[in-house]
This record gives sequence, structure tokens and C-alpha cells, in this order.
Amino acid sequence: MPPLLTIDHLRFGWRPDQLLLDLEHLQLEAGESLLLRGASGSGKSTLLNLIGGVLVPASGSIRLLGKALETLRPAQRDRLRADHVGYIFQQFNLLPYLDAKSNVDLACGFSRRRRERSSAAGALTAEQLLQRLQLDPAELAGRPASTLSVGQQQRVAAARALIGAPELVIADEPTSALDSDSRDQFLTLLFEECRRAGAALLFVSHDRSLEAQFDRRIELGAINRARTG
Ligand SMILES: Nc1ncnc2c1ncn2[C@@H]1O[C@H](COP(=O)(O)OP(=O)(O)O)[C@@H](O)[C@H]1O
Ligand SMILES: [Mg+2]
Repeated sequence: MPPLLTIDHLRFGWRPDQLLLDLEHLQLEAGESLLLRGASGSGKSTLLNLIGGVLVPASGSIRLLGKALETLRPAQRDRLRADHVGYIFQQFNLLPYLDAKSNVDLACGFSRRRRERSSAAGALTAEQLLQRLQLDPAELAGRPASTLSVGQQQRVAAARALIGAPELVIADEPTSALDSDSRDQFLTLLFEECRRAGAALLFVSHDRSLEAQFDRRIELGAINRARTG
């Protein structure tokens, strides 16, 4: 089995004369949890977009499930992401006029693999995932996502990332809008469901108090400094 994710000699800049990311090596094993820290503007979201295949590196290699993203066509990268990566965005990116369940099911609309996995025996449906994340799908039925609280939207976004058991769940500072009690509760639920699904978790936060809960931590600025002097 190849590692879930392997990054080698990755370089990326938004402008040719400005290098933002310079990563020698980063690896993530199946089921592992990794906290990615770094100052604002250090390139955390950019790195997540490279891993998700939304962006391509100027040089270097990103392998997801053994496939080198830089060798794939854009449509193939989109398919790989839809099938294998659940993404929780900082602003959640729910469709505001759809209700909670419809937002969760969206992930299956883009991926036959995840649709089939979500309806397999023993798999969690959208309703069951929402319940596990302590939302009541019946109570939320028909309510546009835009009318939900931030904490509720965040849990809908987590359910959408988890449905169909993708191998990798990426979360980009999803707790920054929450108070510390809701944040801890959310993290506990997210860890539980990732573990249940066997998903690796790549979690971005600048919050040092979360560090102990992860298998591994990396600091983005430190890696770049180590490489660039
Ligand atoms: N689409 C873009 N075009 C040009 N520059 C960008 C774009 N997105 C981000 N940047 C720049 O890249 C740097 C890193 O941004 P980002 O990856 O969002 O950092 P972080 O998530 O660590 O706060 C910032 O200087 C930001 O202004
Ligand atoms: Mg960011």
C-alpha cells in the first residue's frame, strides 16, 4: 500500500518571482491525523488546494493514493478529489438555499464512488451522519442552510466531508468562528467520525491548544525557513 499522500520537492508561488511554498517532503499515512500550523499568509490554504488538486505546483510532486496529481488532466484531478477527499472550508461553502441533508448529499452528487459507499451496508447515510454530529435532520428539513447557526453550518460541512467515507478529510480552520466549548465538541465528533470511517485528517489551525489531539503536527513557516534559510 502506498502512503495516502506523499509530497516531494514541492514549490509553488502565486507569482514567478515570489516563492510561497518550498516543501522538501511531507507524508501522510492512511488514517493518520496531522495538524498543519503556520502564521496567517504562510500558505496553508494554498497547500490544501495543491493537495486537493485545485492548483498545480510549479515543480515537485504530490501523490494522492499513488497517483501523481501533476501528471493528471484537470478533469482527472477533479474526479480524484470528488472520490477521495472530503473538504471542510473555513467559510463552510454550503449552498445557502439547500437544507442540511441536501448539502450533505451534494458530495455524492459529484462522485458515484461516494454515492455507492454511502448506501453500502453499514455505511452512514446523510441523516445518520447529521445525527452523529448532533444535528436533527428532521428538525432541519426544508430549512435553508443560510438560516442555520455557525456551529450548525460547520457540522453540516463536516457531514458533507465525511459522507461516502473518503480516505482523506481536509479541514481549513473550521473552528476559528467558534467559542472553545463548541470547538472542543466539534473536534471530538470530527475525530470520532474520521476514525470510524478510517479517514486521515489534515487539519489547519493556528490554535496551539489543539496540538495534543493529533498524531503529528507540522509548522509551515518552519519547513519553509528550514529549506530556504
Ligand atoms: N488566488 C490568489 N492569487 C494570488 N495570491 C494569493 C491567492 N490566494 C492566496 N494568495 C496569497 O498567498 C499567500 C498565502 O495565502 P494562503 O494560502 O491563503 O495563506 P494562509 O491560509 O496560511 O493564511 C498570501 O500572501 C495570499 O495573499
Ligand atoms: Mg487560510
